[in-house]
Amino acid sequence: MNTVHSIAQVRAAVTRARQEGKRVGLVPTMGNLHAGHIALVRTALARGDFVVVSIFVNPMQFGPHEDLDSYPRTLAEDQAKLLDAGAHLVFAPNAKEMYPDGLDGHTRVSVPVVSEGLCGGSRPGHFDGVATVVSKLFNIVQPDLAVFGEKDYQQLAVIRKMTQDLSLPVHIIGEPTCRAEDGLALSSRNGYLTPEQRELAPTLFQQLQQIAAAVQGGRSDYAAIIETARQHLVAAGFQPDYLDLRDADTLTTIGPDSKTGVALAAVFLGKTRLIDNLRFKLA
Ligand code: PAF
Repeated sequence: MNTVHSIAQVRAAVTRARQEGKRVGLVPTMGNLHAGHIALVRTALARGDFVVVSIFVNPMQFGPHEDLDSYPRTLAEDQAKLLDAGAHLVFAPNAKEMYPDGLDGHTRVSVPVVSEGLCGGSRPGHFDGVATVVSKLFNIVQPDLAVFGEKDYQQLAVIRKMTQDLSLPVHIIGEPTCRAEDGLALSSRNGYLTPEQRELAPTLFQQLQQIAAAVQGGRSDYAAIIETARQHLVAAGFQPDYLDLRDADTLTTIGPDSKTGVALAAVFLGKTRLIDNLRFKLA
């Protein structure tokens, strides 16, 4: 497994793989890899022959007061995990390689409607940053397939829509969320939690399960269901950013034609922002 830092090097390696008739898979990450990322790599390996993992903490998707500077950067540990998982190439560019002229004035990819509300509402410009860097990575690597985690549910919807709207020849695969034994969704940001906060954190998933159970039990007073969950979270010590129930396929409000629902939440535990979601069948 090689690690390359320039666009020219990744292109050369992918060209060689293609000449050998290989199907190319891409797993975009921001590093600090955990078992959830490794599951993405395994899926890419099962569906492709040459798997590129990008590691880039993308400044364009962070707001001015977010954790860009403190975001964990652990390249050596990440490389060891990727070698072990069987990835073929790591692409770890720096910001200068990806944004040689800086961020101001850089072309941005914006995916309307699906980027609005939820995380897009609390993190203005976040999904433009994600869509821009992912479209750059698609153009650099030109993969046949790319794998993203379902934990970032809205992000996956944004990337699917962008790929469809821009007619990008990339097959997007969503990978189910990996959870710790107590239900907490794995995330690089879990590392910010104090032991007490870590103990409390699974309450988030439990509340999403409560929401799903209420709806599946026949209730349709969605606002009241969400308010109850919100109150439980506040009482437990969380500061909810948003809690919502949407149609899982369109991310719009649940309507008579909706077949699958998704409960989505972002909460703060101290300064740490955690997100999670739970998809469930509607009657
Ligand atoms: O999910 C992430 O880690 C990032 O948003 C992504 C998709 C790698 C883009 O920077």
